Amino acid sequence: GKVRAPTHIISTISDDRGEEPCYAGVPMSSIVEQGYGVGDVISLLWFKRSLPRYCTHFIEICIMLCADHGPCVSGAHNTIVTARAGKDLVSSLVSGLLTIGPRFGGAIDDAARYFKDAYDRSLTPYEFVEGMKKQGIRVPGIGHRIKRGDNRDKRVELLQRFARTHFPSVKYMEYAVQVETYTLSKANNLVLNVDGAIGSLFLDLLAGSGMFTKQEIDEIVEIGYLNGLFVLARSIGLIGHTFDQKRLKQPLYRHPWEDVLYTK
Ligand code: ACO
Ligand code: LMR
Repeated sequence: GKVRAPTHIISTISDDRGEEPCYAGVPMSSIVEQGYGVGDVISLLWFKRSLPRYCTHFIEICIMLCADHGPCVSGAHNTIVTARAGKDLVSSLVSGLLTIGPRFGGAIDDAARYFKDAYDRSLTPYEFVEGMKKQGIRVPGIGHRIKRGDNRDKRVELLQRFARTHFPSVKYMEYAVQVETYTLSKANNLVLNVDGAIGSLFLDLLAGSGMFTKQEIDEIVEIGYLNGLFVLARSIGLIGHTFDQKRLKQPLYRHPWEDVLYTK
């Protein structure tokens, strides 16, 4: 009989061996002819299934809303400095991407993990937030450098509005809003930020779409797929900032002495 040589790689999301490449079994021609969007492609390549239109639309909204947030944030700043040092597109892009993490843009997975755990254990917002404080952990998805209780993040509002209209259930989001109500009673800067909004709403998408088993949801949350949304989205803006600096022929950046506190 035939002996199958052991392979060095296992892959389950795409296949380029046939007449045309397939994403999760869907051929390129169907993707184009059936008018799939980038949300559908993400569904196929990340989640290995076609999700309903309201889910893929939500994914696309996340990507559009997180594509950029001006030149002053960590990622754009790094990209701008790198582009001005004469580096190429990829170097400028990754320099910005490398700032994405627990404080900036990369709190989505942890927000989903902590909100899910707290909701599933029926913790009150008080018990959840104070429990985190006791452990010395900042609540992921809460807090912002410039947004305040009286100057909320429009992106959060837009995501919430979309989900309230289209999702079958927004129980995790409502829980995050209750947590925000409690944290805002402590300090005005402790708003639900865009990472927290996406983290909690993606839990609602996963749980409410009927497309994932409980084990699959746990695995997605545990592996941490959701920061990928911010990484993907912000790449669009970081690439734009690179082109902008090159177009403007900006010179090497040097930070002004006056803006440094030299001290012993
Ligand atoms: N949970 C609990 N307490 C918090 C939180 C939080 N998430 N964020 C800030 N605080 C507290 C701080 O402990 C601090 O109190 P203290 O001085 O008594 O220790 C007070 O609020 C002020 O905090 P600052 O450090 O001044 O807040 P800063 O503006 O530097 O931080 C940041 C902003 C980094 C976003 C912070 O709120 C945070 O770490 N949040 C959690 C991570 C997160 O969600 N990041 C994503 C932000 S959105 C985005 O990047 C796209
Ligand atoms: C962002 O999307 O980059 C921001 O929320 C971070 C910021 O400080 O504005």
